[in-house]
Amino acid sequence: MTDDVTGETCQWRGWREATEQALYGPGGFYLRPEGPAGHFRTSVHASALFAGAVARLLGEVAEELGTAGVDLVDVGAGRGELLTAVLAATAGTGLDVRASAVERAARPAGLDERIVWTDRLPGPGSVRGLLFANEWLDNVPVDVAEADATGVARYVEVRADGTERLAAPVAGPDAEWLARWWPLREPGARAEIGRPRDAAWAAAVRSLAAGRAVAVDYGHVRDARPPFGTLTGFRDGREVPPAPDGGCDVTAHVAVDACAAAGGGDGGAELLTQREALHRLGVSGGRPPLSMASADPAGYVRALASAGEAAELTARGGLGDFHWLVQRVGPAAG
Ligand SMILES: C[S@@+](CC[C@H](N)C(=O)[O-])C[C@H]1O[C@@H](n2cnc3c(N)ncnc32)[C@H](O)[C@@H]1O
Repeated sequence: MTDDVTGETCQWRGWREATEQALYGPGGFYLRPEGPAGHFRTSVHASALFAGAVARLLGEVAEELGTAGVDLVDVGAGRGELLTAVLAATAGTGLDVRASAVERAARPAGLDERIVWTDRLPGPGSVRGLLFANEWLDNVPVDVAEADATGVARYVEVRADGTERLAAPVAGPDAEWLARWWPLREPGARAEIGRPRDAAWAAAVRSLAAGRAVAVDYGHVRDARPPFGTLTGFRDGREVPPAPDGGCDVTAHVAVDACAAAGGGDGGAELLTQREALHRLGVSGGRPPLSMASADPAGYVRALASAGEAAELTARGGLGDFHWLVQRVGPAAG
């Protein structure tokens, strides 16, 4: 537990408020120097093939917009790893990439000076290009609801050590959201109320004048909600019980269909798996032909390593099951 949050150890709060403080308040988990990569591996860290695929996607968007000058906005940018890698991957391709990071943590020292760093989403209609958000929405804090013994959905309150109690009945827009997106069907059933994520995603899509917004995250859709929710913690590469004490990540899978509906966009939303999305962008886990081993041994070893990384990014039961929510706006829509 960090010193800055110990004063609130005994306080009962809703999960949304408690998580907000634990992740982004003073001494918060995400504001620490080690950054997200110090605690878990996202697709960005798993392989440079991921940034290569984003670079190709950016090229597609530029072509649709009929321009070589495109914006690339990375929301929840961590320490700028994806932007740095995409700038490297697009060097010499003729694409003129205007890169910006939207991130609550401070700009890292030594970051490529071409990357603009801000803690706010761009204004409405100001982006022409690609807005990309890998594992952002799952870190937008949400309240948790649980059905009591009589089936009434109540807010769950929590103390910094993770102890929980049931509080007031869920009411108003939160109750409407549950009824539409995640009805609780029996006592003990739990849900994460995704309204703040819907609003965050809608604002992100609104920032586009033209192009695509893509959110990549672990998630679920209405027909297959997890009955007890997915709230969990991560610390030092391991899954741990969620405790909003600033010492671990607190995350929950994203109701991606609700975000899709909130995002709107001219061309509607497309939901696909990371496996499908990366295959479309040319990332495949196929092994190189064995004949290559004798004809070009060094090339074979490189191709084999690359196939292994592609397999990790597209694996069933792993990163390949992540959802890609794609929203098109303006001339690129349709
Ligand atoms: C799980 S990390 C993902 C980092 C990076 N995108 C990656 O894939 O490696 C989530 C990041 O989102 C940032 N974040 C969360 N909410 C944010 C917000 N409203 N605005 C900007 N950044 C935010 C956190 O600070 C954290 O760095």
